Amino acid sequence: MAFVEFADVSKIYQMGEVEVAAVRDMSFTIEQGEFVVIVGPSGAGKTTLLNMLGGMDSATSGTIMLDGARVSSFNRKQLTQYRRHDIGFVFQFYNLVQNLTARENVELASQICRDPLDADEVLAAVGLADRVRNFPGQLSGGEQQRVAI
Ligand SMILES: Nc1ncnc2c1ncn2[C@@H]1O[C@H](COP(=O)(O)OP(=O)(O)OP(=O)(O)O)[C@@H](O)[C@H]1O
Ligand SMILES: [Mg+2]
Repeated sequence: MAFVEFADVSKIYQMGEVEVAAVRDMSFTIEQGEFVVIVGPSGAGKTTLLNMLGGMDSATSGTIMLDGARVSSFNRKQLTQYRRHDIGFVFQFYNLVQNLTARENVELASQICRDPLDADEVLAAVGLADRVRNFPGQLSGGEQQRVAI
């Protein structure tokens, strides 16, 4: 069985009378250890796909499996556990807390995960040792992305 499997997944938004299909009948598999890039035009559904895989959005129909678990059937509590322990996610707009420094942003995340690494060490590992006291608004896009990672 593949590590990740999408089977006939659709995400339909109801906008009054109009239905917007962000993703329609999408099926694919990803093997464990495989490095995958999702490419497509703006509005193609990439963020929608990743939000569903990351447990932040639910599919309208279809099945999403990850490591043998049926993510598309998870309840709210299971989704919270899944997001916290199984998924790493860098958002399109990073989602850093603006009034916390780079170090504090990493420390915040480390408070809710198992076996967290040291915030200063991981920031140094991504080349941000001398920016740990900076706020997100004082960092470049790429630097914010590295804090998010
Ligand atoms: N909450 C929503 N309500 C209605 N339509 C939505 C909603 N979210 C996304 N869409 C629509 O679904 C489609 C897919 O959006 P999505 O954000 O997944 O695209 P994307 O591939 O990530 O685009 P980009 O490259 O611009 O980030 C778009 O047509 C978008 O307008
Ligand atoms: Mg997007």
